[in-house]
Amino acid sequence: MKNIVSDLSAPNRSEEQIKSRERVSAHGEVFTADREVEAMLDLVCRETERIDSRFLEPACGNGNFLVKILERKLTVVRHKYIKNRTDYELYACVAVSSIYGIDIQLDNVIECRDRLYEILAVEYITTFKEQFKEAYLLAIRHILSKNIIWGDSLTQQAPDGLAPIRFCEWSVVNDKIIRRDFLFEDLLQNQPFEGSNLFSDLGDEAFIPTPIAVYPPIHYLKLADYGAK
Ligand SMILES: C[S@@+](CC[C@H](N)C(=O)[O-])C[C@H]1O[C@@H](n2cnc3c(N)ncnc32)[C@H](O)[C@@H]1O
Repeated sequence: MKNIVSDLSAPNRSEEQIKSRERVSAHGEVFTADREVEAMLDLVCRETERIDSRFLEPACGNGNFLVKILERKLTVVRHKYIKNRTDYELYACVAVSSIYGIDIQLDNVIECRDRLYEILAVEYITTFKEQFKEAYLLAIRHILSKNIIWGDSLTQQAPDGLAPIRFCEWSVVNDKIIRRDFLFEDLLQNQPFEGSNLFSDLGDEAFIPTPIAVYPPIHYLKLADYGAK
């Protein structure tokens, strides 16, 4: 349990806007302050409050935008589903699994995953206390390990250029999760950014990409088993 719940009282890392001058010049790394993040998210406020609305941050840094998006979605989950642990688990899982990020610097990727994990884990553990399921926290860790990607958004490859960036789509059906994988480059090739949407769930005309892998449905509490294979 120590490794799952470890260090959940980490400091608020959104306050530092710069890690070093070298990183600013090498990677343009200047993090956005909370106030600006909130103001920008307010422009798409309805989407940030829709639990299953998909967000991709292609230069996510240590997660300043993604953290706030998750907090907004979890406010809705909490409001609607806190009385039932299973419902809460499923909808919080939907909230996390619809958030995606890419960054070229590995430490940012790890920090971003940890911050998103901590937000959910702290709320889940303090709310459900001894009822909380370790398997659930492992499932959330697994999703974050896939959704927050170490890669180069410009080349759509891993930083060493040896593997294409691959996105996982997670769909919840009853208490099961279906995973389908897509290549970032395939998604972008058919994304003119005007007139059509990727994975549109608002009824718009949408490009339907072909997955490169489809996994059998699995109970959400067993999701981390994928990672073990
Ligand atoms: C200006 S910071 C913004 C970070 C975050 N979006 C925020 O607003 O706090 C830019 C980030 O982009 C990352 N980055 C730079 N080039 C990139 C690339 N080709 N692919 C992915 N990430 C990249 C840097 O590592 C850095 O974390």
